[in-house]
Amino acid sequence: MMDCNCRHKIMMPWSVDIDLADGTMREPDRVLVRRASDMEGYYKDPAALRDLIGQDDPVHYEVFEKQIPEQYGQLLLCISKLHPGRVGDECFMTKGHYHTISHTAEVYLCIRGQGYMLMKTADGQCVAEPMRRNRMVYVPPCWAHRSVNTGDEPLISFCVYPGDAGHNYGDIAQQGFPKRVFIRDGREVIE
Ligand code: F6R
Ligand code: ZN
Repeated sequence: MMDCNCRHKIMMPWSVDIDLADGTMREPDRVLVRRASDMEGYYKDPAALRDLIGQDDPVHYEVFEKQIPEQYGQLLLCISKLHPGRVGDECFMTKGHYHTISHTAEVYLCIRGQGYMLMKTADGQCVAEPMRRNRMVYVPPCWAHRSVNTGDEPLISFCVYPGDAGHNYGDIAQQGFPKRVFIRDGREVIE
């Protein structure tokens, strides 16, 4: 390692295999797994969530990550794999968060599945962008974001965001999003 002309050490280049069909990263450094029991307080129907937890506490989503320093100038990347399922009639979703450094953006490239990226601002705007294979969603600075799976297969995205962005889950855990996504009579309902 040698110093570059900034405060960081020179990092060696590297590469990783990503299986686009399965939505997995070969040899991830970390896999974060969130089950139904990690999602208490997030869904509209808490009783339906308790039922799921009591059955087999299914995995909601997995995040496959490489270890990259969480510093300005780095890019963090991961594969986010959100499994299909419903809590009552509400579609499985991620917790959702603002970035701690709120003026940091993120790119989600959807590689499999279908659903929405729900995004909201602190001043009350809320947008649902469709996610489907080969579609990219740009999450601008200052938008909280949560992905929602409306399909019958995993919703898989490749995500890239600034190294120093950080994650603020508290605001969403308390306030939620103004919109939720349901499947009713076989149709998507966003309300
Ligand atoms: C990172 C990012 C995604 C999510 C992942 C899980 O900034 O937005 O990698 O972390 O989709 O969702 P959360 O973090 O909301 O549980
Ligand atoms: Zn994010």
